[in-house]
Amino acid sequence: MNTIIEPFRIKSVEPIRVTTQRERQKLIKSAHYNLFGLRSDDVIIDLLTDSGTGAMSSAQWAAILNGDESYAGSPSFYRFEAAVKNLMPFVHIIPTHQGRAAEAILMSIYGGNGKNIPSNTHFDTTRGNIEASGAHGHDLVIAEGHIPDNLHPFKGNMDIKRLDAFLQKYGNSVPCVMTTITNNAGGGQPVSLENIRQTAALAKQYGKPFIIDGCRFAENAWFIKEREAGQGSRCIEDIVRDCFAVADGMTMSAKKDGLGNIGGWLALNNDDDAELARNHLIRTEGFPTYGGLAGRDLDALAQGLAEVVDEDYLRYRIQVNQYIVDRLDSIGVPVIKPAGGHAVFIDARAWLPHVPSLAYPGQALAVALYEIGGIRACEIGTVMFGKQPDGSEAAAAMDLVRLAIPRRTYTQSHADYLIEVFEELAKVKDTLLGYRIVKQSKLMRHFTCEFEPLI
Ligand code: F0G
Repeated sequence: MNTIIEPFRIKSVEPIRVTTQRERQKLIKSAHYNLFGLRSDDVIIDLLTDSGTGAMSSAQWAAILNGDESYAGSPSFYRFEAAVKNLMPFVHIIPTHQGRAAEAILMSIYGGNGKNIPSNTHFDTTRGNIEASGAHGHDLVIAEGHIPDNLHPFKGNMDIKRLDAFLQKYGNSVPCVMTTITNNAGGGQPVSLENIRQTAALAKQYGKPFIIDGCRFAENAWFIKEREAGQGSRCIEDIVRDCFAVADGMTMSAKKDGLGNIGGWLALNNDDDAELARNHLIRTEGFPTYGGLAGRDLDALAQGLAEVVDEDYLRYRIQVNQYIVDRLDSIGVPVIKPAGGHAVFIDARAWLPHVPSLAYPGQALAVALYEIGGIRACEIGTVMFGKQPDGSEAAAAMDLVRLAIPRRTYTQSHADYLIEVFEELAKVKDTLLGYRIVKQSKLMRHFTCEFEPLI
């Protein structure tokens, strides 16, 4: 059979409120053309993020009833800890309410003024936590990672030569080396097992702990199985274990490949660092056997971790992106290729060449997707990255729009509808206007800034 079906049946449904284009034009105007300002009831297909927006399985909902809400020593914690250790053999597993809390705790140990922390590409919150501690984040992804239509199979790989030069140059100011799998900011592109091992070996050579941001570890492992020489016949669990066996710790948002609606963890091997982390956790998140989560959340994650490594699930999951990328490509929409793990990225700069970067082509495209089809996507470009430390504006490296696909939530007919919206958009794209920002915050402006169309 050629059709890769959604490998689940639907037991419980949530209605989608279908709005008209005229209604949506009013709604987005009153949200000051910022898609984060919309009520989700006013969105038909919500592709803002794949984080915490997926559907839990009936087994996860059943596990929730087994949640034990004891303050200390809950069996839910021990089930969660065992599920994590089954895949990631770290000594200390410290639950947190989501990924950024794990990052904040990690940076309370490794961050600080004048420190320099390399990664393939830091996610925004990781960079935010690094910078809030006074340190600097550096992105050392391979050059192919910046070329939208380059077909390198592991576009998320760390540039090992640059990392070596970096470690020589920055020496003692480097507290740790990080890698993000998959590389979200770079298009959901995977990192090979070989590259993870090379990064780990180099970190070890320089005496630096190696920390993996493992949010999408299962999707990354699927790509390793599919694309890396010698990995095709191995099971996903073993590939995952190999990825983490060479690391000294990890941060995790379980809202992605934990298949949960909330949750995360920090894992470490070093006992002293783990003690510091737990002390910080008690102050900011909660006792180390719940870390900002309810016992029932821990049980849902333990079950989610067993489900996310299922090959039928992962084949379907990756195929969804592949399907959308292939169809968009066939109608001439410039997409990042090859398809990434959790999202489809549109090259708005290439598709709307008449809108200059400083008029935010990604925002123009995202607003039009909403107006025409009720699709909510996210600009990843000059709105997000264009504001310079001195307050001026500069074009970001790319002007992208991300369509992040929630896990197990939408069906193929939703994907087909999405393609039709793009077909409609193709007819009017040359008339789309750019935007100007009329109000913005100092940090992470994209969440709350207000826009006006450039008429
Ligand atoms: N690291 C990566 C690679 C991420 O993609 C995210 C979140 C985080 C860390 C932070 O985790 O949200 O649980 O605090 N990414 C979401 C996104 C928000 O839409 O890509 P969190």
